[in-house]
Amino acid sequence: MSFVAAERQGAVEIITINRPEALNALNADVLGDLKAAFEAVDQQAVRCVIVTGAGSKSFVAGADIAAMSTMTQAEAEAFGKLGNDIFRMIETFPLPVIAAVNGFALGGGCELSMCCDFRICSENAMFGQPEVGLGITPGFGGTQRLARLVGPGMAKQLIYTARNIKAEEALRIGLVNAVYPAEELMPAALKIAAGIAKNAPIAVRHCKQAINEGLETGMDQAVVIEEKLFGKCFETHDQKEGMGAFLEKRKEKNFTNC
Ligand code: HXC
Repeated sequence: MSFVAAERQGAVEIITINRPEALNALNADVLGDLKAAFEAVDQQAVRCVIVTGAGSKSFVAGADIAAMSTMTQAEAEAFGKLGNDIFRMIETFPLPVIAAVNGFALGGGCELSMCCDFRICSENAMFGQPEVGLGITPGFGGTQRLARLVGPGMAKQLIYTARNIKAEEALRIGLVNAVYPAEELMPAALKIAAGIAKNAPIAVRHCKQAINEGLETGMDQAVVIEEKLFGKCFETHDQKEGMGAFLEKRKEKNFTNC
């Protein structure tokens, strides 16, 4: 039985963490299934991935506390690496990944949402890094990605106090892009995904790579990364198609991902 469900809707792949009896908490099996679900995405046909949680209450309520409670130092470090490797794979996945956060996104759940390209959430969403209250640090990238997303001062306050925040506060500090009534969350995610899917896939992919890699380096090197990826769009079918459509005053575009 898989703890992660995958469903294709046109050019969009919906990946759902499916362990509702534990509010979709992440153990090694769930993480393994999540990795397998991403590896199975058809990167030719799919233009955007949405990650969400099963049920109406929780995106992911964290790493599995029961599973972690008896770990040795070495086992804990290996568990951190397991999650970090998978979340980094998602962060650098060639397609855009949207987190549709439908409830609790705590600890490893907040961390999963943060390795996605951006987050939208439902009104009942709650974000936080409660780890220090459990006697541990965030371990799936939370100390790094929260600081990069909301700034070090806000990240340190949230992490040191282990305070969970509601959707509106997450919006105010820039952790999420938008908040929707629960029933409108997936339609909104699909609409955003469709807006991405209609554009030239190679260009979208290169934008993701340019932003991600550029943010990890200084501006001199970052603009070179952009130049190279900008250049790589040229001589593709889709560059000719996109510019040709403009010049011919044609609304319809036939992007072929090549
Ligand atoms: C294991 C969990 C879980 C978790 C919930 N459950 N969160 N099991 N690990 N992180 C289980 C509960 O034990 C319970 O199982 C069932 O899900 C329903 O949860 P309740 O607590 O009964 O629900 P509720 O009262 O609504 O409270 C929801 C909640 C609370 C506020 C989200 O469950 C909670 O505080 N969970 C822990 C959140 C957390 O601290 N996350 C960070 C973990 S550390 P039973 O069998 O009793 O019904 C982390 C580190 C990441 O993520 C890095 C690792 C390297």
